[in-house]
Amino acid sequence: VNWTAEEKQLITSTWGKVNVTDCGAEALARLLIVYPWTQRFFASFGNLSSPTAVIGNPMVRAHGKKVLTSFGEAVKNLDNIKKCFAQLSKLHCDKLHVDPENFRLLGDILIIVLASNFRKDFTPACQAAWQKMVRVVAHALAHEYH
Ligand code: HEM
Repeated sequence: VNWTAEEKQLITSTWGKVNVTDCGAEALARLLIVYPWTQRFFASFGNLSSPTAVIGNPMVRAHGKKVLTSFGEAVKNLDNIKKCFAQLSKLHCDKLHVDPENFRLLGDILIIVLASNFRKDFTPACQAAWQKMVRVVAHALAHEYH
């Protein structure tokens, strides 16, 4: 992918304001609530029986942080995202058997989390850059699938 200087600036400046713990927890919780079939992958996480249970589940919170921290690696390596996620792609494919469609769903959820957190600061130009970002990340995570 080719990033314009403006896109890079929009992505890194938004990222600098993201609370990885809170936004990560919110994004994973929303994924599990809005698309309940994704709960199947997290059977070991305990109680996911209601939105309140999902939001209050410490394992969801911890894993959400882990996922968004890893997203941050992509932000730091915008020109190298495919390489950056090669191992994670193998893990999600060979070990976890996560359908790549779910990467797209999580990307869209992340956009909603950013929009609801940053409100007016999440301008259309900023959204456009982030839509591209989540698409590139989903593509990179699906890259090692066979
Ligand atoms: C584990 C990143 C999307 C399911 C992980 C780990 C990372 C990660 C960093 C930990 C790997 C390790 O322990 O070495 C990401 C990123 C995603 C993403 C960056 C997209 C932006 C998803 C989606 C699902 C999923 C959409 C399923 C719906 C899992 C599962 C684990 C895992 C089941 C193992 C959890 C455990 O039992 O510890 N992911 N992930 N991931 N991921 Fe993802």
